[in-house]
Amino acid sequence: MPSYVITGVSKGLGWEFMDQLSSDPNNTVVGIIRNKPPTAERVANELADRKNITLLQADLTNYDATKKAAEDAGRILGGKLDTLIANAGYVPQFDAYDGIGTLGAKPEELTQEFWKVVNINVLANIHLYNLFLPLIFKGNDKKVICISSAQGDPDWAKDYEIDVAALYSASKAAMNMITSKFHAQYKKDGILFMGICPGMVDVGHFSSATPEQMEGLQGMLKRFSVYSPNFKGPDTPHDSIKAVMKVVNNSTVEKDGGAFLSHFGNKQWI
Ligand SMILES: NC(=O)c1ccc[n+]([C@@H]2O[C@H](COP(=O)([O-])OP(=O)(O)OC[C@H]3O[C@@H](n4cnc5c(N)ncnc54)[C@H](OP(=O)(O)O)[C@@H]3O)[C@@H](O)[C@H]2O)c1
Repeated sequence: MPSYVITGVSKGLGWEFMDQLSSDPNNTVVGIIRNKPPTAERVANELADRKNITLLQADLTNYDATKKAAEDAGRILGGKLDTLIANAGYVPQFDAYDGIGTLGAKPEELTQEFWKVVNINVLANIHLYNLFLPLIFKGNDKKVICISSAQGDPDWAKDYEIDVAALYSASKAAMNMITSKFHAQYKKDGILFMGICPGMVDVGHFSSATPEQMEGLQGMLKRFSVYSPNFKGPDTPHDSIKAVMKVVNNSTVEKDGGAFLSHFGNKQWI
């Protein structure tokens, strides 16, 4: 009975992970969300037949709430966990369309958004990893997967002049390093820590963009096409998570421990 804990299952990629993984009745899936009632209602409406899903509520920036979620997950899963998927993340709108120099004109908002994105995308995940580690130690598969982003690759930003999303990108780069550090410490225990970028996936992040912002976005998409001539636009959550899970299932500590890979299982981001 493989077991999975997935964070951020209220929507987007987290919901898709929960849907795909719980479609196998042999899997046990625990989803963590900040606000349980709407997701519980959605599960009751759309995944009513899935008896293998349990939802736990925790704002991951609240250490005590995450600790309680780990304790509750331990009780539900019999004290052991195969795979932790650290998917929850904050994707700010603040830096989505402007370069870091332009953002400097709003220093207070920049400061606020910087600490917010680092708090959720980095610090909360450090606590999450540590709090779930005792369960992972006792699991069979022993995998800790962080949903990262190509935006966290400095070479990509440099070579293709991807100047937007600086704060978000910095948080993802930092978390890649943290994941590598966990690998460095726990490789000897056979625990896999790795970061995977799911590609560019349409989950509605740009739905409220102004026409001017959309123009800037088109410029970025053109640079994506230069990087990858096969790039035809964002993936669906379904295709992205299928690809990510293939990478997860094929991963081993020896081959992939501490790595940061794409949904193709290599360094080709899109
Ligand atoms: N979509 C893409 O193209 C793409 C590309 C590369 C990487 N990623 C990464 O993929 C992951 C999922 O992103 P997404 O695109 O599915 O975004 P999304 O639709 O905005 O979903 C983000 C999830 O994280 C949860 N979350 C945020 N802050 C939280 C907190 N403090 N405590 C608990 N949960 C929290 C959200 O919960 P609420 O509903 O409560 O806000 C939501 O469930 C993120 O790590 C993102 O960086 C996405």
